[in-house]
Amino acid sequence: MENQKKQLAETLAGVLENITADEIGKLIETPPDSSMGDFAFPCFKLAALYRKAPQKIAEETAEKLQGTEGYSEIRNVNAYVNFFMDRAATSSSVISEAIEKGENYGNSDLGANRPVIVEFSSPNIAKPFHIGHLRSTVIGNSMAKIYKALGYDVIRINHLGDYGTQFGKMIVAYRRWGNEEEVRSEPIKTLLKYYVRFHDEAEKDPSLEDEARATFTKLERGEKEEVELWQWFREESLKEFSYVYDMLGIEFDSYAGESFYSDKMDRVVDMMQEKGLLKESEGAMIVDLEEYGMPPALIRKSDGSTLYITRDIAAAIYRKETYDFYRNIYVVASQQNLHFKQWFKIIELMGFDWADQCVHVPFGMVSLEDGTMSTRHGKVVFLLDVLNKAVEKTREIIAEKNVPAEDLDQTAHDVGVGAVMFQELSNNMIKDYTFSWDKVLNFDGETGPYVQYTHARCASVIRKAGEDADAILTGQVKPDLSLTGSDVVYELVKAIGRFPSVVREAGERYEPSLITRHITDVAELFNKFYHDEYILVEDREERLARIAIVIATKLTLKNGLALLGVSAPDRM
Ligand code: ARG
Repeated sequence: MENQKKQLAETLAGVLENITADEIGKLIETPPDSSMGDFAFPCFKLAALYRKAPQKIAEETAEKLQGTEGYSEIRNVNAYVNFFMDRAATSSSVISEAIEKGENYGNSDLGANRPVIVEFSSPNIAKPFHIGHLRSTVIGNSMAKIYKALGYDVIRINHLGDYGTQFGKMIVAYRRWGNEEEVRSEPIKTLLKYYVRFHDEAEKDPSLEDEARATFTKLERGEKEEVELWQWFREESLKEFSYVYDMLGIEFDSYAGESFYSDKMDRVVDMMQEKGLLKESEGAMIVDLEEYGMPPALIRKSDGSTLYITRDIAAAIYRKETYDFYRNIYVVASQQNLHFKQWFKIIELMGFDWADQCVHVPFGMVSLEDGTMSTRHGKVVFLLDVLNKAVEKTREIIAEKNVPAEDLDQTAHDVGVGAVMFQELSNNMIKDYTFSWDKVLNFDGETGPYVQYTHARCASVIRKAGEDADAILTGQVKPDLSLTGSDVVYELVKAIGRFPSVVREAGERYEPSLITRHITDVAELFNKFYHDEYILVEDREERLARIAIVIATKLTLKNGLALLGVSAPDRM
């Protein structure tokens, strides 16, 4: 419906003075209910421009546009002009565009290949990949796909938490209570056990904390034994993370994590020094941010070691120099809001005019039904367990359905993993939510399996349609869409037509859940059509028109799911 909207803006620009088609386009609304038309143009904002009552403007505009081609009716209601599109023409253009674009339906070249970095996932080494990381991973993956679909050149970065004082702790704990064999057989769970023990023991014996700090300083100085242990922990952890990423079907272009910047820090600290931003405070270096209503940022500790924030600043500068990004997006939990605000400000104070190209996209916290997660206390839900359980349950459900035995494993994987990912992308991302097994494994209602099932239903209709469907797909026949006049069908067609603008909005607002919601709507409308009407009707011309709509529906669902990182099996 984007073309239709653009067209309408041009048409309005033709009869309105002192306002451009672009400005008009921003005012055009889509009424919630089709009885009020396909588009509505509110005239309130024009009142000041023309020094006239909005009702009067709406009335005159409607008058001038009577008889415009492509509209079955143009009606004035109060301060609005309501436009009813010619249904046959609209349906035909929406459906043929979807079929022609196929896999690319929903994509655009808005981005003109400008580089956009999406940093996401970024788990901490030697700690479990738990469901808290799932949100960043799944949302970031979707965001990267959306930006790619919008024509940007996307760079996916995993800013691994592979550095910092916690490695001092880990090394101390390993030396005291560790056992090599135990680590090799179950790396992350074992390392976590040591980490938890470290915190327990440090409560009784605070000198352990000092020892950990000293050990991290040795690591920073590059001392052999410490570096070797650290590398080993990192490798073992990455193996486990890769397993999760493979399962989710997620890849990264770069794993440059915090340690990658360890040799790039001095330069950055010098730059801050030159700009006169650093202040000494009890031997440490800080940036005072009081003027901006924020606590000071600690840049370098008195023992010379750098911090999380220093590494983020170094990373941003490195990324600008390396990728010359147009946007540098961070998908990170809202608990870190202050952290990002602080260092974005520091980048600005350092004089970098690209500070405003850095965007923190926060998401809400995940808690467990019996309270918050805490790595330190070993209270976590492991992502791998969640995924395996979801796949297992799916296998049980679909084994009774008509999935061919040879596809069972793949389908159980696609649907089980898809269910978990889809649920992550269903909630408005800033909202906190409570993880619940019941919800994740519920396959009814507004869930991933529901949309996937609707997609498979389309596939089944298309299989039944046989040669007719092929003829449409290969462009041999152009169905006459004026033959499908029902309201249900028209609503479905319009929802298909809105898909590209939903993708754009999801990108602009950093909100993949807009796509989740939209394809759920498309699935619901399709199911209404499927239940209320015959699709493979007797009359060939009409049958072709209906099949074309099924094909376009299938494409929209498949492309929408793909943007969420969820696959769409043809049978389930
Ligand atoms: N490793 C951090 C954590 O798990 C997240 C990193 C976020 N990214 C960043 N550039 N600071 O909390």
